Order: sequence, then structure tokens, then C-alpha cells
Amino acid sequence: MTSNAELLQRDHKALVHSLHNPAAHLAGNVWVRGEGCDLIDADGKRYIDAMSGLWNVTLGHGRRELADAAARQMGELAYASGYSGNSNLRALELGERLAELVYPNIHRFFFTCGGGESTDSTIKFARYYFKAIGKPGKFKTISLTGGYHGATLAAMCATGMPAYWAAFEPRMPGFVHIPNHDRYRYVVPPGADPDTAAADELERAILAEGADTVALFIIEPVCGAGSYVPPKGYFKRVREICDKYDVLLAADEVITGFGRTGKRFALDHWGVLPDLMQFAKGITSGYVPLGGVGLSDKVAAVLERPGAEPWMHAHTYSGHPVSCAVALAAIDVLEREGLVARAAALGERLHKGLREQLGSHPNVGDIRGLGLMATVELVEDRATKKNFDVARKIGPQVLAAMRERGVITRGRGDHLYFGPPLVSSEAVVDRIVSAVAEGVHAVLQR
Ligand SMILES: Cc1ncc(COP(=O)(O)O)c(C=O)c1O
Repeated sequence: MTSNAELLQRDHKALVHSLHNPAAHLAGNVWVRGEGCDLIDADGKRYIDAMSGLWNVTLGHGRRELADAAARQMGELAYASGYSGNSNLRALELGERLAELVYPNIHRFFFTCGGGESTDSTIKFARYYFKAIGKPGKFKTISLTGGYHGATLAAMCATGMPAYWAAFEPRMPGFVHIPNHDRYRYVVPPGADPDTAAADELERAILAEGADTVALFIIEPVCGAGSYVPPKGYFKRVREICDKYDVLLAADEVITGFGRTGKRFALDHWGVLPDLMQFAKGITSGYVPLGGVGLSDKVAAVLERPGAEPWMHAHTYSGHPVSCAVALAAIDVLEREGLVARAAALGERLHKGLREQLGSHPNVGDIRGLGLMATVELVEDRATKKNFDVARKIGPQVLAAMRERGVITRGRGDHLYFGPPLVSSEAVVDRIVSAVAEGVHAVLQR
């Protein structure tokens, strides 16, 4: 077979990849096989995939039941329109199944092909809702600095990372960002309660914008990029603020949904219900694209009002029967194998291992996350939390050192991310921990 390096050269001539970066790309891999938690490249090299792809291959590679579900459905009905007046059995079965699994106030679903389309759909549901109830001035979306909601144009505007905006400015009007609750770096204002101070930033933003202009607060229960977990009282206070100012609360559960944090859906850690929730990734374990938005009964009700405006939003592949068939099979596996509880137990092992092996390293500033989501944040000076000069590329060097040890993962600057499959063995989790510990020690020589 042609070598990895040759294939990358060919690939580079033919394709533009997400986050296009020629140097990184040509030093990368062409993946040819997946087995459980492992990926194998064109040179036959095998790596543990400590990110489950992009947090999505929760059930690991090679699940026969998912492939069979797709093949069966393709044989029976490959595709049919899902535009109003049309449906298919797998889509309606998946909607019914989700209604049993998600938050108790959510019973109806709109399907998309992934996370970004789900964010755009959530924003449009919020705008539609307020027009329908006679408050058309409420259209703005608030989200967190450091939050990620996708890269389609509206999702990009909700995403709180300037790097995603720079080449595409100007952004659309109507998007506002508030400080992240990042417990490592958020500075609690003097006299404020550390448990709720970051949530109060939402109230400040709503008042600054004018409550009669704000439609939506969209937030990941645990931020994927950085694994930021809010303080205990954060979401309860957010819910109160949203209720007080009539702002819809959307949970972006594209990463956290379907078990990754050790609960089926992550707001269950804090006992708070959202008005809208979005999901993607783990719903099919990444085998086929599928995402969606769940509507609370309150939001869904406006679609049924006599004389309601049509919902003029559409995707050819909304409710795709093959994607829905795979999702049903993936949910069966998740439930049958008790993988939500397994994610909680493995998550404890992962966090304990990281703390034990790296907790006292002078360049490890913070280790955080929940369940099988974790981030190690490297700093030059632990006392002052000073970052390394980006030109030193400390984080990328650690990732390279891990790769030499047979473990691949992602990072952003000096933040190293971990999101292993829910089906990982204890040994896989331990190998990930030892690879990052060895990588940090090798690069930082301590
Ligand atoms: C929380 C969250 N929302 C939205 C998205 C966008 O999903 P997609 O890449 O499927 O458009 C992602 C992708 O990583 C995500 O993590």
C-alpha cells in the first residue's frame, strides 16, 4: 500500500480540510482502519485515539450492530423526503425514543446533520418562538467566551473563540459573549458569591443589551474546548435569570449528550431543565452524521398555534432514515452495556490518574473536566498562572511526544484534551494517562 506520507501529498492536492493548515496536515495521518479504541494509519501504525475521533466515536470502532442497522435500512428505504407531509419509520421511532431519554419537559425533535446545523436551528427556533408570542424584538443570542457551537455562519457567531471569526468578519449582528465560568481563571468580582458570580454575568449582559432584545442563552453544560465545568450553583442561577428576563436557555449537548459526562445528559448533574437542547456526535457514535434539537413543550407549543407561521427552515437530510436507524442501534448499545455508568467510573479513573501523575508538576496549572471529558492546562508559572510564549509550542510538543508513545489526542495551545470512548478498558485509560504524563515530563524535563 502507498505510504502515509505519499497519501498525504495526494490528499493535500485534492482536499481542503476543516481547520486547513498545510504544515500540520502534511505531518499527519491518513487513517485506514479503526478497531475498538484504536486507529491504524496507512503505514500500519496503531494509536489509541484518546479523543474518540472528535468526542463522537463513543462506542468505538467495529460495532457490527451499527453497520448492520445501516445496511438493513439502506436495503429497506434509503431515503425519502422529510419535508412536512412526509416521514419515515426510523425518524419517528427515534423521536419517540429520545422523548423517553432526554429531559422530562422535552418531547419533540428536529433533526439535522450535525452540531453546527443544530446551533443554527436552535437560534432560529428561539427567534421563531419570540415572533410567535408577539415579542419580535427579542432576537439576540448570548453565549460564553471560549464556548464552541460550530462553524456555520450563525454558529460561528455564537462560538466564543475569536480565532474562528478572524478570516470571516464581520460577524452577524445580534450575538453577545459573556465571560466563561472557567474556575481556574475567572476573577470573581469583590464581594460576589464565587458559586454564582459567573452566572450573574448573564444578567449583566441581558440588562446591558435590554431584556426586550435577548432571545437565547446557549451554553455547553461542560465546554468541550477546555473541559470547563461550572461551579455548583451556576446553572440554577442561569435558569433563574433566564426565567426572570424571558430568555430561552439552550443546552448544547453535542459533546456532553449520550453519556460522556457520566449522566445521559449533562444538565442532570445540576438538576436544571433547558428550553431547547441540541445533540449530535454520540447519538450515532459518529458512524453516520446526525444531529438535532429537542424542543421543550413550551417552545413546541407555538408551532401548533392556530395561524402559526410555517417553520420555513429545512434540511434535505433532516430525519435521514439511515442515520436514524444507526442512532436507534447506538442508543440500544449505550443502554444495554450500561455505558453511562461506565463513563462515570472511567472518568473518575482518568481524573484520578491525571491528578496523581501530573497534579504536582510545576507546569501543570489545572486539571479539570467531568466524566470522560478532561483538559490538562500547562502554564509557565503555576503561582501566577502565566502562559508559555505560544512560539515555544509546548502543547503541540507534548502532543507529538504522546504520539511517539502511541496515543493521539487534540489540544489547543497549551491545553491538552482527552475524551476517550465510553467503551475504553481501564488499561486504555491508564495508557492515556501515562502517555500524557511521560509527554509532559519529556518536553518540560521534570
Ligand atoms: C458543543 C458543540 N457544538 C457544536 C459543534 C459543531 O458540530 P459540527 O462539527 O457537527 O457542526 C461541536 C463540534 O465539536 C461542539 O463540540
